[in-house]
Amino acid sequence: MRVPVAVLLLVVLPCLLHGADAAVRWPKKPLLLPAIFSFGDSYADTGNYIILEGGRPFNYSPYGETFGRPTGRASDGLLVIDYVAKGVGLPFVPPYLAKGQNFSEGANFAVIGARALDQAYFLEQNVTSPAPMMNSSLGVQLRWFEELKPSLCNNATKGGGCRDYLGRSLFVLGEFGGNDYLAFLAAKGVEQTTRAYVPVVIDAIAAGAERLIRHGARRLVLPGNIPMGCLPAILTLYASPDAADYDGYGCLRKFNALARYHNELLQGSVQALRAKHPHAAIAYANYYDSVLAFLTTPGFFGFNGSATLVACCGGGGRYNFNPAAFCGFPPATACADPARAVSWDGIHMTEAAYRSIAGSWLLGPFAEPPILTLALAP
Ligand SMILES: *[C@@H]1O[C@H](CO)[C@@H](O)[C@H](O)[C@H]1NC(C)=O
Ligand SMILES: *[C@@H]1O[C@H](CO)[C@@H](O)[C@H](O)[C@H]1NC(C)=O
Ligand SMILES: *[C@@H]1O[C@H](CO)[C@@H](O)[C@H](O)[C@H]1NC(C)=O
Ligand SMILES: *[C@@H]1O[C@H](CO)[C@@H](O)[C@H](O)[C@H]1NC(C)=O
Ligand SMILES: *[C@@H]1O[C@H](CO)[C@@H](O)[C@H](O)[C@H]1NC(C)=O
Repeated sequence: MRVPVAVLLLVVLPCLLHGADAAVRWPKKPLLLPAIFSFGDSYADTGNYIILEGGRPFNYSPYGETFGRPTGRASDGLLVIDYVAKGVGLPFVPPYLAKGQNFSEGANFAVIGARALDQAYFLEQNVTSPAPMMNSSLGVQLRWFEELKPSLCNNATKGGGCRDYLGRSLFVLGEFGGNDYLAFLAAKGVEQTTRAYVPVVIDAIAAGAERLIRHGARRLVLPGNIPMGCLPAILTLYASPDAADYDGYGCLRKFNALARYHNELLQGSVQALRAKHPHAAIAYANYYDSVLAFLTTPGFFGFNGSATLVACCGGGGRYNFNPAAFCGFPPATACADPARAVSWDGIHMTEAAYRSIAGSWLLGPFAEPPILTLALAP
């Protein structure tokens, strides 16, 4: 069955624009994708971290305040992956570590703090601080998927064709790299991180995508990195007295250059994967430009143009980011209206920002090709 794109747009667009549970009825069955499998870090974790590590701060108010309660998501509400799931007519992607459920419509392996590279690599490079939040790297998440696969295929296909089921499912791999770079930056500085470690991170992501393709994945989304130099956390921790270190938006140039280099290499890997696996539809999702658009035309997205670099929830300071009073720990407080803020806690974005980004990935222009076209790929 093929559904014309125009029909998808009519179904999806009103829901994205009206947010949560709009009056539009979702199809009983997903349009074309049977399931979503998601891998990543705090930009995609829908509840694994709090199961592994306990609540603070992500299962504490004001996290989740827009949703109505904390859910373990590192935001005031929903994440890009939630809106992608809604956009293709699937339920929220359940966290893998909430065991015992039926994951036939998807599983989320993402964990807050997760890195692309295993801890062993950091130890080899003498990078011991900050210690990883837990054993949750991309490699670990892929093993979790592989452990789940037999039962998944059995439940979802009732013993039928697992390759067809996985081939029709959507695999979202990332974003990865942000947490690797935070560790390398602290130990090695921005120049060496960019030069020496970005290619290593990219190779790990590309190898992960290839591993999923070997399992039968044929519809993949690889999100790039955000403009790191615009994060309130980076702006605070790496503040510079030299005005030349900042760009026209007030972001730190070298950290954005690091993210752009990552994205450039990632897009090269996506092209190589497409050439090697012509039967797979692989999208590059452009986090960088979708976030930069918030700084360029904040009013268009409903954001306060004088506060795009200021965290909504934080413990004070120029960027309202204070590592000693992180969001979720007193005395940090949240701003009155998170819908007018881009940054939620200085590292993660608000639901309003994530919703816009998801729309620009599902329908374009910030995914190449837009995610909805992956649903229609042969
Ligand atoms: C398969 O179904 C059983 C019974 O409903 C459930 O316990 C198990 O978690 C399911 N496995 C997956 C991967 O969905
Ligand atoms: C790590 O530290 C050890 C001992 O100081 C040193 O021999 C080794 O060359 C270092 N490795 C790297 C990659 O810096
Ligand atoms: C990480 O988890 C894997 C299995 O998921 C296990 O084999 C490995 O020993 C763990 N490593 C650490 C350092 O806990
Ligand atoms: C799991 O859910 C799928 C889709 O919702 C359903 O078709 C299947 O029968 C369920 N399997 C089990 C074992 O509950
Ligand atoms: C916009 O942000 C600035 C700086 O944080 C603040 O002073 C101002 O009150 C905000 N305006 C609105 C309408 O929220």
